[in-house]
Amino acid sequence: MKKFILLYLGFITLFSCAKNEEEYVLIPKKVELKIPSNFPGLLYDLSQNLLTEEGIALGKKLFYEGRLASDGVISCGFCHEQASAFTHHGHTVSHGVDGKVGFRNAQPIQNLAFFSEFTWDGAAIHLDLQPIIPITSDVEMNENIPSVLSKLNSYQEYEVLFTNAFGDREATSERMLKALSQFMVTMISGDSKYDKVIRNEENATFTELEINGLEIFNNKCAACHSGALFTDQSYRNNGLPTNPKFPEEEGRKRVSGLKDDFYKFRVPSLRNVAKSFPYMHDGRFGNLEAVLDFYSDGMTQNGGVVDTLLVKSNGNLGIDLSSQEKTALLAFLNTLTDNTFLNDKRFAEF
Ligand code: HEC
Ligand code: HEC
Repeated sequence: MKKFILLYLGFITLFSCAKNEEEYVLIPKKVELKIPSNFPGLLYDLSQNLLTEEGIALGKKLFYEGRLASDGVISCGFCHEQASAFTHHGHTVSHGVDGKVGFRNAQPIQNLAFFSEFTWDGAAIHLDLQPIIPITSDVEMNENIPSVLSKLNSYQEYEVLFTNAFGDREATSERMLKALSQFMVTMISGDSKYDKVIRNEENATFTELEINGLEIFNNKCAACHSGALFTDQSYRNNGLPTNPKFPEEEGRKRVSGLKDDFYKFRVPSLRNVAKSFPYMHDGRFGNLEAVLDFYSDGMTQNGGVVDTLLVKSNGNLGIDLSSQEKTALLAFLNTLTDNTFLNDKRFAEF
């Protein structure tokens, strides 16, 4: 008898599934993520958020949606522009609703599926949670989640997009955040000249100067800017003078509360670095020449603990770089530009 009931329940489930699927306009199409062969393993858990064409499409729509902000204008894409590797072109620190100014430089959005913590100080520990910060920050999108959801729930275009991606029309915060993550997870940049050389593709080769730059980079920079992502994802103090314009800035200490974490920031990836200017957490340097001059001559004790890798044998701070070495480093850094990514229609607003 028991067996019979189980069998019967099984049939009902089977039957109701089939029926439900028939009712859908569309069954979401699963998407396989293409990971470059020279990349590390994914850190984003896709088993908790199945990638589908429809989920990604919804995420992209949301990424460029001004209605996520209180003024109906400031979308994620407003501060994260594709041509600048999804940073905010022309702004040292971000400008949000009503022209309000934050205190950090917008970070590139690329390869985030391979990261474990987000923002300059690691305030967000999951990609799905990160967008809550800009949406609710008064200097960014100045909104609140219930209000965003009620806006989304009132537009017919979203009714269709949510139904296609998640089976019914309801816009919930979980669905909104998961769709945004799906879109961001697909934003992989791994097709620069550097990658092609490393993977032996298309007969790509470095010039003498680029090879020289790579050697200098490996000797003097790669301890922190390491691996295929050009970051070890740790928080470090690289001896930048504190910025009197933003006295509230404490770096990683804002998150950990630890005194020694003062002015530590997550080592940034250097992919597309030629396009993601201005540089550093507050965008203080307008070009890469200025960054290299800082590394050779601009470091100071800044009230925190400057990384020991940056302390020379004579006790001074900095990295010895001749002007020839700087020229070679610049040539190498330029090989990290991935024009396929910067022009990829899948990520473009229009
Ligand atoms: C007003 C400008 C602005 C808007 C709008 C904005 N961002 Fe950002 N974004 C920033 C800044 C500035 C940072 C660095 C924040 C920090 O370190 O405190 C950042 C960081 C991030 C990061 C972390 C990247 C990393 O490498 O850790 C992600 C992901 C991100 N934003 C996604 C989004 C999404 C999704 C939206 C829309 C919901 C959005 N942003 C809207 C300016 C903005
Ligand atoms: C001790 C670790 C360490 C070493 C060594 C190091 N960096 Fe950095 N680098 C950092 C940290 C941390 C930041 C972010 C600091 C900030 O924003 O306040 C950074 C920022 C940068 C930036 C700005 C990137 C952006 O998106 O804003 C560039 C470019 C850069 N480094 C290049 C180099 C080069 C080239 C070398 C070698 C000459 C080098 N770094 C050596 C830790 C290091």
